[in-house]
Amino acid sequence: PHVDAEGAATCPADAGELVETAFAKINLALHVRHKRADGYHALESLFVFTELGDRLSGRARPDGAISLDIDGPFGSELDAGPGNLVMKAARALQSHWGEGHGADLRLSKMLPVASGIGGGSADAAATLRLLARLWHARLSDETLERIALSLGSDVPACVSSVSRMVRGRGEVLEQRTIAGLSGTPILLVNPGVALSTARVFGGWGGVDRGPLAASELEQVITGGRNDLEAPAMAAAPVVADVLAALQACEGVRLARMSGSGATCFALFETDRHSALAADRLRAGHGGWWVAETRIRTE
Ligand code: C5P
Repeated sequence: PHVDAEGAATCPADAGELVETAFAKINLALHVRHKRADGYHALESLFVFTELGDRLSGRARPDGAISLDIDGPFGSELDAGPGNLVMKAARALQSHWGEGHGADLRLSKMLPVASGIGGGSADAAATLRLLARLWHARLSDETLERIALSLGSDVPACVSSVSRMVRGRGEVLEQRTIAGLSGTPILLVNPGVALSTARVFGGWGGVDRGPLAASELEQVITGGRNDLEAPAMAAAPVVADVLAALQACEGVRLARMSGSGATCFALFETDRHSALAADRLRAGHGGWWVAETRIRTE
């Protein structure tokens, strides 16, 4: 399915209902430095977010129960049970702010699942933001980010969903605004294969290829890389086809894989270039998910 870039965020809420967008996360570069003793990998990564995202809505309920309904183009691929990251995030916030608070939640899944653009992480972070508003929970950003880390390595950065230099396993967040990036047209392309983050990290070659310098976009383009591209391509060779197809498009400034894949992205010089590339990729590859959006303005 093709997703309208604004489709996730424009529906007005009913009275008493709050809405959050779970913005897609893009790793403009992801350098793996070493494997840690705890099994996680030490990263340096530039995280940015797109206007496109899943849509989460919710209303309070007085009995302390949490319910979750899931719809949207990719909704059928997710289970709404206790293992869902939205449910886990709701439970984690309840245990901090009081079991008496409940909510009816609805997730409209616009982004492909297990695809390297933080869908589940962004959903968890959006749940924390939405329930903190709904329950009038006065929790500091530090507390929310600490709860977020208990849900997954990428969740802390998704709490604020602004561009960040991310280190550690994902919990060390530095403010990092890259000039000229806000509003940049970006195309997301997923070939329809789900990749396991643990499996892709497990295939990392073990060689540190150097730090990430990311104070300007040009540095990120020329000196940045995604060290998980090779293991992702080994698990799903079609990732190489997606990258080649993006690189061949006119007006591309940067084409790279995001996170542990399989979604790849391209930054374009203009909206027109992005739209032409989207048309071309959709015409040539019917099974690929192609979404046009922009880097979120901060
Ligand atoms: O933190 P999260 O549960 O999202 O991570 C999923 C898996 O990805 C981890 O179990 C680990 O295998 C791998 N991972 C890693 N290094 C990171 C983040 C994730 O090895 N920094």
